[in-house]
Amino acid sequence: MDAYKLLISGDIPLTGHTSVSGGKNTSVALIPAALMCDDPCTLDNLPDIEDVHVLVDILRGLGARVDYSTVTKRMVIDPRGVNACTVPYKQTQRMRASYYLLGALLTRCGEANVGYPGGCAIGNRPFDQHIKGFRALGAEVSEEGGMICAKGSLQGRTVFFDRITVGGTINVMLAAVKAKGQTVLCNAAREPHVVDLANFLNSMGASVKGAGTDTIRIRGVQKLHASQYTVIPDQIETGTLMIAAAATHGDVTVHGCIPTHMEALTAKLLEMGVSVTDEDDAIRVRPIGPHRAINVKTQEYPGFPTDLQQPMSALLCKAQGTSVVTETIFESRFKHLSEMRRMGARARILEQTAFIEGTQELHGAPVTATDLRAGAALVVAGLMATGTTEIYEPGFIERGYEHLEEKLRALGAIVRREPV
Ligand code: EPZ
Repeated sequence: MDAYKLLISGDIPLTGHTSVSGGKNTSVALIPAALMCDDPCTLDNLPDIEDVHVLVDILRGLGARVDYSTVTKRMVIDPRGVNACTVPYKQTQRMRASYYLLGALLTRCGEANVGYPGGCAIGNRPFDQHIKGFRALGAEVSEEGGMICAKGSLQGRTVFFDRITVGGTINVMLAAVKAKGQTVLCNAAREPHVVDLANFLNSMGASVKGAGTDTIRIRGVQKLHASQYTVIPDQIETGTLMIAAAATHGDVTVHGCIPTHMEALTAKLLEMGVSVTDEDDAIRVRPIGPHRAINVKTQEYPGFPTDLQQPMSALLCKAQGTSVVTETIFESRFKHLSEMRRMGARARILEQTAFIEGTQELHGAPVTATDLRAGAALVVAGLMATGTTEIYEPGFIERGYEHLEEKLRALGAIVRREPV
C-alpha cells in the first residue's frame, strides 16, 4: 500500500500552458541500447520517472558508469566497465521493459541472463515473440528458475512476428544491430518509440532502415560509436494531458509535443465535439459544447493507442449517449471502469468491450489505481467529478508520468497528497 493517496477536487476547467516530458517507452528502450555502444553515450530529455531510475540501478549493477541529472534530464552512459550479463529478478520485476536487457546484453556480451519482467497487470503479456526472434538469430534461449537465459553469436535472419509486438520488435532490433549479415523484421511494430530507437542506433553507426513501417532491415555492424541523442516527447503523456483538458472543458495548450503522433486521439476528440488545433510543436484543446458519445477501438500505431484507452474511457463516462470501447491489444484493461462505478459511472464490460452510458454527473469517491494508465484514468475521472476523489495506490502514476500533479496544479487543478 502506498504511503499516500491523491486528493482531487474536481469540476474545475484546466486552463493555460503545459509542456510534455521525454517519452517513457522510448527512454526504457534507448537506455539499454546505450549498453551496446563501444564508447560513452549521452541521452537528453529523459523523464524523471521511476522506470528510468530502475534502469539506472540495473546498468550500474552491470558495471556501467551512469551519470544522470533529473534537473538537466541528461544521462551519460559509459558501458566500457560492463562486467556482467546477469540481471536478477528482484530488479527486473520492477518494470516491464527490463527485458530489453536481453537484446542489449546478447549483443554486447554474447550472453544474457535476465529475470522475468514486471509491469502493469493488464493481461497475460507473454514474450514468446522475443524468444522466437532471438532463436531465429541463432541464440540458444532457455527459461530457468524465473530467469530468461540467452547466449550465442548472432547471424542476420528474417523474423516474421506472429503478431505485432512493440517489445518484440525493439528487443530483436537490439539483438540484430551487430549480428553478422542482414536481419529483416516482418510484421514489425510502427510506434514512434520504435522509430526513435532506430534513429538512436543509426546515430551510433548502426544500419537500421524501414523503422516506422512493418518491415525493418538491419545490417549488422562491427562497432557502435559515441552519440548524443535527445529522446522524443511522450506520446501518451501528451494524450493524457489533452484528455484531461477536454474532461474539464478547459482551454489548454500542450507544448513540446509531436502533433503527428497524436492524430488518432485528435480525430476522436474532434468526433466527440472538442476543439483541437495543432500548432508547430504544440496542440491546443478547447471546449465547444457537450461531448458526444463515440466508439473507440484500440489498435497498433498509427491506430488509437491502447495506453490512451483508459483515460479516454474515463472521459466518455460523461459524454451524451452510449460509447463502445473495444480493447484489442490487452486482455484486462478496464479495471478503472469498475472503480469509477463508485463515482456514478455506468459501464458494462463484456470481454474486450466496454459499453459506457454517459451520465450528467460523476461524484467524488475513494478509488484505487490498479496500473499506470488506470491511475491516469482515475485522475481524469477525479478532475471531471464534483466533490473530492481519493485515489489510492497513486504510486503507479509516478512510474510513467513526470511530475503530473505539478503540471495539473499549474493548470488550475486542485490536487494534493495526504498520508494514508
Ligand atoms: C509496450 O508494451 C508498452 N510498454 C505498453 O505500454 C504498450 O501498451 C504496448 O507496448 C502496446 O503499445 C513499453 O513500451 C515499456 P506488445 P509491450 O509487445 O511491448 C502480446 C504503458 O502503459 N504479445 O506490443 O509489452 C501482448 O500480450 C505500457 O506505458 C505476445 O503475445 O506490448 C499484447 O497482447 C502498458 N507475445 C500484445 O502482444 C509477445 O512476445 C501487444 O504487446 C509479445 C507481446
